[in-house]
Amino acid sequence: MRMTWIAGGIVALALAGSVQAQSSVADLMKHEVNPAALAFWAAGNDAPEKETPRAATARWRAAADAVATLKAEGARMQAPPYAISPEWSRFAKLMAETAASAEPAIRARDTEAAFEAGGRLYESCNGCHKAYAPPRS
Ligand code: HEC
Repeated sequence: MRMTWIAGGIVALALAGSVQAQSSVADLMKHEVNPAALAFWAAGNDAPEKETPRAATARWRAAADAVATLKAEGARMQAPPYAISPEWSRFAKLMAETAASAEPAIRARDTEAAFEAGGRLYESCNGCHKAYAPPRS
């Protein structure tokens, strides 16, 4: 009896794991990619008015974390079950590499360079969306 219960628990865990591994692309976008992109873009924007040094540090740190997220999500999207074509993977790779290319700028708190990278990041999002995202109404 006890054995059965344990086995049931393991099956439930395995199921939870596979459900997580297969979050929909929309979920990845909503919960990982888009929030990271917003933090990334915030590095290239003018600082909010009267930003305290502490808030500035938090903003740049969030941008650095965003780079890590975009690299990880870009890698994830280049692998099964997400990778659906070479073109798809190219866009996912471009997103990851564009984010990575901004690492020095973000470390140096270089707003102008971060802004420039933000434009390229947007192009990587948009390229994939034009090809693969259903038009929104
Ligand atoms: C490799 C392809 C690819 C890349 C790169 C990509 N996206 Fe997406 N994105 C999609 C697809 C496909 C959808 C549509 C998902 C659906 O509705 O099923 C989507 C949907 C979205 C959505 C809507 C999610 C929702 O349903 O609420 C947002 C927001 C989004 N993407 C943001 C971004 C941002 C920001 C970037 C760049 C930093 C980006 N995406 C890069 C493929 C991509």
